[in-house]
Amino acid sequence: MTVDPTSDAPFAGRIVAWQRVHGRHDLPWQRVRDAYRIWLSEIMLQQTQVTAVIPYYERFLARFPDVATLAAAPLDDVLSLWSGLGYYARARNLHAAARAVMTEHAGEFPRAADALATLPGVGRSTAAAIAVFSFGVRAAILDGNVKRVLARWRGIDGWPGSPAVERSMWALADSLLPVEHVEAYTQGLMDLGSSVCARSRPQCGACPVRTDCVAHRDGTTARLPASRPAKARPERAVAMLLMRHDGRVFLEQRPPSGIWGGLWSLPEMAQDATLVDTCRERFGVRVLTSMAGPSLRHGFTHFSLTIHPWHVEVVPEPRQVGEAAGRWFPITEALASGVPAPVRILLEGLDASALPLFNRAG
Ligand code: ADE
Repeated sequence: MTVDPTSDAPFAGRIVAWQRVHGRHDLPWQRVRDAYRIWLSEIMLQQTQVTAVIPYYERFLARFPDVATLAAAPLDDVLSLWSGLGYYARARNLHAAARAVMTEHAGEFPRAADALATLPGVGRSTAAAIAVFSFGVRAAILDGNVKRVLARWRGIDGWPGSPAVERSMWALADSLLPVEHVEAYTQGLMDLGSSVCARSRPQCGACPVRTDCVAHRDGTTARLPASRPAKARPERAVAMLLMRHDGRVFLEQRPPSGIWGGLWSLPEMAQDATLVDTCRERFGVRVLTSMAGPSLRHGFTHFSLTIHPWHVEVVPEPRQVGEAAGRWFPITEALASGVPAPVRILLEGLDASALPLFNRAG
């Protein structure tokens, strides 16, 4: 079957015909109607590309084959299997949602998109995708890729994250939804958005809806969708301690809510605190050597963080102090735990800097 892009078939008809020929059909979560697997794939795919997700998806399912097993597991096991996928709020929400399915829905995922959207980490678009793929429910999706397709096709100006633009996009997405073949249509929109209608250098020649695409007609694909209006984000700074002793590094588990909730992270120190005193009073260790490392910037949605790392060689003092939330990790074990992205970069630096020493010794 070929797709005739000059066809005047409705938008959805062309997307469905295109999906059948050019879309993806062999992803591990396709051809199943298991809401648990589909939900898991949709959460993993929220900020991560398909090729990166697949090995995590398979490892995750091997360890947590069903929602009951996931709900019964400790959060740390979930975070550790998530390690490297990033955006750990997804993993915490995943765990909370599995528990909600067990306690509030008798172990069965609800079928309606509205009910799915009450689960932690499941927004309106993800809920619709789960309902479509698991139960064949007719519901519109609107993730970042679909926003790009629709903004270009309809020539919608304005940042799609703004409430007014988003509202009109939801209305458009609802109005385009076909009566039949909703699964192929939904997958087709996702596939088109992640391939042909790419953010940069879209392949308009291969697009099934190019004939009535406003951005293609006007030459505005590079400008649409509009980006978030630039707004100065507040700056914050923090000193982080890379305390090392006997080939290990000290990590603390962050409180369950807030930034990097539940992740293992490096201890933080107020900018004006004294290194030697902090190490002695909070961690019961004596500083042998200390050196400031190059600073690192990390962007959050609402602020930018500059991290000033301190590399500190320490020895424990006989006196015990109660730092209940922390422990010493071998570096490879630290890297296999759920750690925030910039902390991972700092730990990887330690890993690399350990090599010359090892070579010298050998
Ligand atoms: N991105 C989000 N959901 C997806 C899916 N089901 N298939 C491919 N890419 C996706």
